[in-house]
Formats: sequence, structure tokens, C-alpha cells
Amino acid sequence: MTTITKNSKIYIAGHRGMVGSAIWRALEAKGYTNLIGKTSKELDLRNQQAVYDFVKQEAPQVIIDAAARVGGILANKDYPYNFLMENMQIQNNLIVPLIN
Ligand SMILES: NC(=O)c1ccc[n+]([C@@H]2O[C@H](COP(=O)([O-])OP(=O)(O)OC[C@H]3O[C@@H](n4cnc5c(N)ncnc54)[C@H](OP(=O)(O)O)[C@@H]3O)[C@@H](O)[C@H]2O)c1
Repeated sequence: MTTITKNSKIYIAGHRGMVGSAIWRALEAKGYTNLIGKTSKELDLRNQQAVYDFVKQEAPQVIIDAAARVGGILANKDYPYNFLMENMQIQNNLIVPLIN
């Protein structure tokens, strides 16, 4: 079991999004000093090898997944399968390096 301290390296996936940026601000306000984030341009979370390499290299103690392809009401209604698959891919890619 990992003990989380104010210096623990915490990677917030989707840190520029509505949810991710709110988590970032909340943790910062509570004194967490070692937050890391990557834009989707810097790290496409659909790319399993890139995510694997990033997590292995950075070795964050905590990963918070707030990254997702999010559409409006119409897009969510029209493309539910695409959104679901992409978001499961993002989530799975973040989990794989933790078990290998
Ligand atoms: N907003 C709400 O009220 C709310 C409430 C409950 C649950 N949620 C859930 O929380 C999650 C995030 O929602 P949100 O409203 O924060 O969405 P958002 O504002 O659109 O932010 C999505 C974030 O995901 C990142 N992202 C998307 N695709 C990516 C990819 N392929 N690689 C790397 N990063 C990627 C984006 O990065 P870039 O900005 O760098 O492109 C962005 O930071 C969703 O699952 C949503 O259903 C949201």
C-alpha cells in the first residue's frame, strides 16, 4: 500500500478539462506540490505504447483519470459506441503500465 503525501507525484490525466482542472486546483489548494499533466497533443492517451512509456518514465504514485472524449448532447446520442470505446481505451491504457 502506497502512502500518499503532499509531495507524492500525482498525474492528472485530462488536467485541462473541466473535471481535471478542478481536481488540479483542489489538490493544489490542499498543498499537493507534485502534480503533473500532459495535454492531448503532448500525450495521446489512446496510444498505448506512448502511455506505457510515459507512466514508466514518470512513475507517478497516483493517477487520476479525468480524461475523456466528451461530446455535447447530440454527439453523445449519435456516437455512443465511439465515445465508449475511446474512453475505455484511455482508461485501459492508463491501467496497463500499473500491472506490468
Ligand atoms: N463536466 C461535468 O460536469 C462532469 C460530471 C461528471 C462526470 N464527468 C466526466 O468526467 C470526464 C471528463 O469530463 P470533462 O467535462 O472534464 O471533459 P472536458 O472538459 O472535455 O475535458 C476532457 C479532457 O480529456 C482530455 N483528453 C480527451 N481525449 C484525450 C486523449 N485522446 N489523450 C489525452 N487527453 C485527452 C482533454 O485534453 P486536452 O484538453 O489536452 O485536449 C481534456 O483535458 C468525462 O468522463 C465526463 O463524462 C464530467
